[in-house]
Amino acid sequence: MKQILPSTPGPIGVFDSGYGGLTILSKIRETLPQYDYIYLGDNARAPYGTRSFEVVYEFTLQAVIKLFGMGCQLVILACNTASAKALRSIQMNDLPRLDPTRRVLGVIRPTVECIGSITRSRHVGVLATAGTIKSESYPLEVHKLFPDIKVSGEACPLWVPLVENNEAQGDGTDYFVRKYINELLAKDRLIDTVILGCTHFPLLLPKIQQYMPAGITTVTQGELVADSLKDYLSRHPEIDKKCTKGGRCVYRTTESEDKFTESASVFLNESIKVERIEL
Ligand code: DGL
Repeated sequence: MKQILPSTPGPIGVFDSGYGGLTILSKIRETLPQYDYIYLGDNARAPYGTRSFEVVYEFTLQAVIKLFGMGCQLVILACNTASAKALRSIQMNDLPRLDPTRRVLGVIRPTVECIGSITRSRHVGVLATAGTIKSESYPLEVHKLFPDIKVSGEACPLWVPLVENNEAQGDGTDYFVRKYINELLAKDRLIDTVILGCTHFPLLLPKIQQYMPAGITTVTQGELVADSLKDYLSRHPEIDKKCTKGGRCVYRTTESEDKFTESASVFLNESIKVERIEL
């Protein structure tokens, strides 16, 4: 069904399957505090990491349409799984028919762009959800920019549930943090740079750093995405002027409001107000 979308300036939409995108949102807000934001977490249907290509695409498109309907002219998919499985189709097939003047951006490209200047051995590892690893998005994007870099990936299916269940600091978590790091490094002993290719993983950073061998650089995405967005808005004044600047941020979830408020405080270190919506 063709929707009539508002064309007036609006907040920047930030979407994730759940809470992970909050790690990206907080870095974006630190770098670009003057803009208005709507954060949308599809918590009722998270995690996306084990879902099929078609389902992740369908859910992500619903979220983008919702954010467009709420006035967003620019939407950031602050989720690697959605960026890997849905971004390209939305940009190529859906935006032209929905509204070619709006923009949807992801988190993989800005992460990959910095890799060439970090790795010396030209051997890079990626830790991400099963969906992101299976999509091969990281090796594909890395090779477009840096054909000489070898990329190995390891799916970490238990990390998102551990974070979502507030076990990031739990004793049992050490086992699974060590396990996936060791499995990744066993694939290629020359890896000197590891990308945390899931927006939930920064919450595990203290444990990841504990088990990552010295000399390996761990790359998180928040600042890279924030800097890349800043650069994008300065290069695209026509999009920048469609983003309102009042320094406000509102939160929407598809799950219960109480649950979101409680868990989001772990990610944001502040208490927030959230409203439940349906996609
Ligand atoms: N935050 C999502 C990502 O970056 C993963 C969470 C999920 O599996 O839904 O990939």
